[in-house]
Amino acid sequence: MHYRVKPSTMLMLLILSAVTVVVFRGLYLPVWSCTSQPTNQKVHVLLLSSWRSGSSFLGQAFNQHPNVFYLMEPGWHLWTTMQKPGMRSMKMALRDLMRNLFLCDFSVMDSYLPDQRNISSLFMWSHSRALCSPPVCSLTPRDQFSNQTLCDKKCDSRGLEKVQEACTTYSHVVLKEVRFFELESLYPLFQDPSLDLRIIHLIRDPRAVERSREESINSFLKDSAIVLEQKSIPRAEIELLVMQEICRSHTRIFERAMQKPPPFLKGRYKMVRYEDLARNPLEELTALYDFIGLEMTPKLEEWIYRVTHGKDRRSVKDAFTITSRNAMSMSEAWRTKLSHSKVKRIQQVCRGAMSLIGYRTVDSDAEQKRLDIDLLVPREPYQFSWLPSKAEETEEPKKN
Ligand SMILES: *[C@@H]1O[C@H](CO)[C@@H](O)[C@H](O)[C@H]1NC(C)=O
Ligand SMILES: *[C@@H]1O[C@H](CO)[C@@H](O)[C@H](O)[C@H]1NC(C)=O
Repeated sequence: MHYRVKPSTMLMLLILSAVTVVVFRGLYLPVWSCTSQPTNQKVHVLLLSSWRSGSSFLGQAFNQHPNVFYLMEPGWHLWTTMQKPGMRSMKMALRDLMRNLFLCDFSVMDSYLPDQRNISSLFMWSHSRALCSPPVCSLTPRDQFSNQTLCDKKCDSRGLEKVQEACTTYSHVVLKEVRFFELESLYPLFQDPSLDLRIIHLIRDPRAVERSREESINSFLKDSAIVLEQKSIPRAEIELLVMQEICRSHTRIFERAMQKPPPFLKGRYKMVRYEDLARNPLEELTALYDFIGLEMTPKLEEWIYRVTHGKDRRSVKDAFTITSRNAMSMSEAWRTKLSHSKVKRIQQVCRGAMSLIGYRTVDSDAEQKRLDIDLLVPREPYQFSWLPSKAEETEEPKKN
């Protein structure tokens, strides 16, 4: 008997074997790259944003995860310790500070803390669930959400030894920074074999950022002076120049990471828009967890729903309050609250960033106030943006 293989069958077989090769490479490659690294390899995440962009909320979404050791703005210590600092002179010190903290080496804080230091010397310490949980404090079991008020009262103690010990017991170290304006200084960290760095870049519509900064403009004066390199600038012009710097930094970082990134950056950067988070918190956060290798839990799903839909009667004066007001309506508040002349000025200095990230400009006061006009340009679904880059990544040996 003769078997004749039809061309179409042959093609099917070829495709099948190609698919098998791809699938098996996908299965085995991660195993190989794991075994070549220490088994206790952590994932290090830098949550990069700027002021008033929802990073407290996003930070909390990581902070509440039982596998995450989270610190809010360690760079604050550096910015407040230096005399008349500027952005340029600080970025390497900030990079090195973060590197040490990612590696759970808290001795680096020596330069920035008083000799008699407590856990409470760390900026916003009681916001970090890990500092309210064992081994630092018996108050909050690791899989529970922490109560900041109680933590403030019960979990302070002398020295940072317990903090350092706690850090080593988590699979993920997440640092949030609003004081970082470029990626290049981080390159050595991407190439450092003791680190597995991922960057989550949170961006918010600059008009909404401005409206939020307006509420507490004085609390930003010191930071603004640093952003503007301590130049003497008339008070009335400062805010617009700072916004321009913030927008430029978003453009710089996004372009660097998305257009011809160096090989070590591939698959390690993810941009997220605050507005997308507000519209689809669960989907967006699940994708972000996925990006850094964390699992979504039913408890966290519930928490996400609660904080994005809840009513918050707390004062909005505190510049660092985590917003749990209706996230969706909050993201549009600028359209009725910010004057159109100010909107126009922000649009001028942020035009490039806005068109790159997908925020439509408005041309009149009427257009600004017509909430039925959607100003958010839809982004492609995630699978289209990251599947190809993942496939590319397997073409190259991983770092180390
Ligand atoms: C935190 O604990 C305090 C004191 O027991 C309590 O009054 C408050 O309601 C708690 N907050 C939350 C969000 O559970
Ligand atoms: C440091 O913590 C101890 C409790 O361990 C407390 O008695 C002391 O007042 C704290 N110091 C500061 C400056 O908060």
